[in-house]
Amino acid sequence: AIDIKSLRSSTGMITIDPGFKNTGSCESAITFLDGEKGMLRYRGYAIEELAEKADFLEVAYLLIFGELPNKEQLNTFHEDIKAESQVDEEMKKILDGFPKSAHPMGVLSSLTSALIAFNPTSVNISSEKDMYHSIVKILGKFPVLVAWTMRKKKGLPLDYGDDNLGYVENLHKMMFKKPSKEYKCNKIIIDALDKLLILHADHEQNCSTSAVRITGSSHAGLFVSLSAGISALWGPLHGGANQAVIEMLEGIQKDGGDTHKYMAKAKDKNDEFRLMGFGHRVYKNFDPRARIIKKAADEVLEDLGIVDPILDIAKRLEKVALEDPYFVERNLYPNVDFYSGIIYRALGIPREMFTVMFAMGRLPGWIAQWREMRLNHEPIGRPRQVYIGETYRPFKPLEER
Ligand code: ACO
Repeated sequence: AIDIKSLRSSTGMITIDPGFKNTGSCESAITFLDGEKGMLRYRGYAIEELAEKADFLEVAYLLIFGELPNKEQLNTFHEDIKAESQVDEEMKKILDGFPKSAHPMGVLSSLTSALIAFNPTSVNISSEKDMYHSIVKILGKFPVLVAWTMRKKKGLPLDYGDDNLGYVENLHKMMFKKPSKEYKCNKIIIDALDKLLILHADHEQNCSTSAVRITGSSHAGLFVSLSAGISALWGPLHGGANQAVIEMLEGIQKDGGDTHKYMAKAKDKNDEFRLMGFGHRVYKNFDPRARIIKKAADEVLEDLGIVDPILDIAKRLEKVALEDPYFVERNLYPNVDFYSGIIYRALGIPREMFTVMFAMGRLPGWIAQWREMRLNHEPIGRPRQVYIGETYRPFKPLEER
């Protein structure tokens, strides 16, 4: 293990590594991934087993506190979350201020940040108890914000949660309950949602997680650190890829379904087009989450009796890409987001909400990483640079320029 303290006063040589391709930013005991072997584990447990056997709240507890909870611990955790699931009524005014056309990710990051105004003590973290309080608060309120962003987009009245429901079921209810109708849930849908959230729950030091850790390293509070993570996740090269994948697949379908034409575009270096949902910074063999999601997409569509031509196009595209030397040489495989949008579509989640669902899934991972960073007393994140600008030049008065 590296002694972080001994590195603190380090003033040695500066290395330059754009995109941090080979630079570690911290030591972490949360998520292990082996890009060559296509292996992903949360706290030592294989993603395949967790996706199959655990529920999202158990996984959240595991990621944040390091161990799978027993029944009593899980129950207490859930009760504490439920006790914090009210969102101040005044927050609705902020939501109302957004136009309906606003992207839900922008709304979500703003609302998450705004929460601090209504919970100002959440910034003061001087003990693990304070930390725990902030954590259950955000786990309670975040699903409400997620549901609000969707209902805003759809122009539906807001819905309140039901403490008798499970965590994921309650999220689903707040998103989908029709006004003046009783809420009924379909187990297939809740199970699929649980699985998707678990698969997205953590992925070590990716772009958004690094944003959370670096923001939190200035001792800004948890909520604003998460808001920074949501903003980072929004981009199409990161979490925004799930929306971009569906848009791409729909585009291919409208254009006659010719996958070869789009493969050629993706390979053309004069064309900006990239095959969305393909490639990964770390996985250079396959993304284990993509395998699970592909299978889940097949099952969910079959169970719900949905025939989606987009799934066929996705499968054809994958087949063509896996045989193409350009993709093979560059180790480009479908990533987690290639098939997730197809399931979200089947569950009736609007396309612009896909990345919000990713954020919902990633929430426990971001929290776990923030907590670890604070418990490790990590120094403020502050990369260096190599200056390549002008050397000294004397100031020129305005009239001489
Ligand atoms: N389509 C076509 N070519 C690609 C693609 C793609 N999806 N991805 C990478 N390449 C090519 C690049 O053009 C580059 O080619 P070159 O060596 O001839 O210049 C080579 O593969 C390496 O690509 P980089 O961009 O250098 O790889 P990097 O690790 O920086 O990027 C990334 C990884 C951002 C995921 C990239 O593969 C990409 O843009 N994919 C599409 C977007 C996407 O699906 N993002 C989701 C990622 S998963 C997640 O965030 C949950």
